[in-house]
Amino acid sequence: MNTTGKVLLAGGAVVAVAVCANFVSEQDASKFHNGIYEPPEEKTYIADIISSAVTMATRSHQKTAPSPYRRDVHAKAHGCLKATFTVPELADPKLRYGVFKEPREYQAWIRYSSGDTMPQPDSVRDARGMAIKLMNIDQPTLLTDPQDAGSQDFVMINNDVFFIPTVKEYKTFMQTQAQGDKFGYFFDNFNWNIFKWHFRQLYLGAGTLKAAPDSLLTEQYFSLSAYRLGPEQFMKYSAKACDTNTAVEVDDDNPNFLRQELVKNVGNNEACFDFMVQLQDPTKNMPVEDTTVRWSESDSPFINVARITIPQQEFSTEVQNSFCENLSFTPWHGTQDIEPVGGINRLRKAVYDGVSRFRHGKNKVEKQEPKGWCLSLNGEACPAESNETVTTSALSEAAD
Ligand code: HEM
Repeated sequence: MNTTGKVLLAGGAVVAVAVCANFVSEQDASKFHNGIYEPPEEKTYIADIISSAVTMATRSHQKTAPSPYRRDVHAKAHGCLKATFTVPELADPKLRYGVFKEPREYQAWIRYSSGDTMPQPDSVRDARGMAIKLMNIDQPTLLTDPQDAGSQDFVMINNDVFFIPTVKEYKTFMQTQAQGDKFGYFFDNFNWNIFKWHFRQLYLGAGTLKAAPDSLLTEQYFSLSAYRLGPEQFMKYSAKACDTNTAVEVDDDNPNFLRQELVKNVGNNEACFDFMVQLQDPTKNMPVEDTTVRWSESDSPFINVARITIPQQEFSTEVQNSFCENLSFTPWHGTQDIEPVGGINRLRKAVYDGVSRFRHGKNKVEKQEPKGWCLSLNGEACPAESNETVTTSALSEAAD
């Protein structure tokens, strides 16, 4: 082998070692208690992250003014749709916690979104969000301020693993994002020491940015992070489109073709999703404190616990779109039985609240949870006719 060949081989070996080293989890299990570890410095990191998030929301606003201030991520909404969330009588007592405790049909709102910090054409690769809010849940909630109580939110994207493992890493990621540098984190601010590069995060992050689907109604969405389900077990959750949902044809040169498809599709058809939970098997590699580890379905399969039904409807009106922008979703809107766990979720508690309050304050709009399908966010219950809920064991049929 000539000298060039030897140099290339040596270089390749260094890169291979750096990549392999980066793919090994660095967590020290001795610090964990029942799978949970909250590092003492985490709260400082969280304060830094909120400040970066507000910088990003302000910068996006400067580019899109006079539009209102938006979310700092998932800025583009494809629409907010009315839905029902039907919980049947669940045979397995392990599942009967929180909103899954007894058969009931909840009124809900779903917001579909694209993940980027700025609204961009739908053809750009991105994560697509599905956030669902069940209203009037009638159980003690984690957040007790009247502005935040009363709902159970499930917040998901169409990918099954998150690309950042811990709050510490997220802080570094957000610092580079707030400086307007999308790739700085992955390459350690373009430092030549490749042992400091984040190959695993780059690989997982690239996987999150997917080509746009033909329809938002034919995807599967995942929580990525873990939650308690009752006092003694952890779960992740997912909403999977029913096989009967199909995409309708629209012009995909239109920058908003995902909304256009949704309008045409639910304008003529009902759609549905199966809502499922995946219980943690603590003897398997299913960590709570590292969101970059996919929980394998062969270790623990998803179990159907509810049916989401999206009735035929018109949703893309000016009033409803503005109502949609003023909603707030967070994993911390929920019953005490479905508590978000792990560092990334502890972080989300403060950040979703901080960014939501920031944008509502700037837009001079009251922050309230909706109480039904009427387009009102004044904290009061909707008129009875738009606010009917059903409680019946007959709903158990919807389980299958
Ligand atoms: C772990 C998995 C995560 C998932 C599945 C997820 C998903 C989503 C979705 C779907 C939305 C849009 C909600 C809506 O329609 O209003 C959203 C909003 C948001 N996300 Fe995440 N996200 C995750 C992690 C994070 C992390 C780590 C942060 C940063 C700390 C973050 C910060 C935010 C913020 C600030 C909003 C907007 C909140 C508001 O203004 O109302 N997310 N997320």
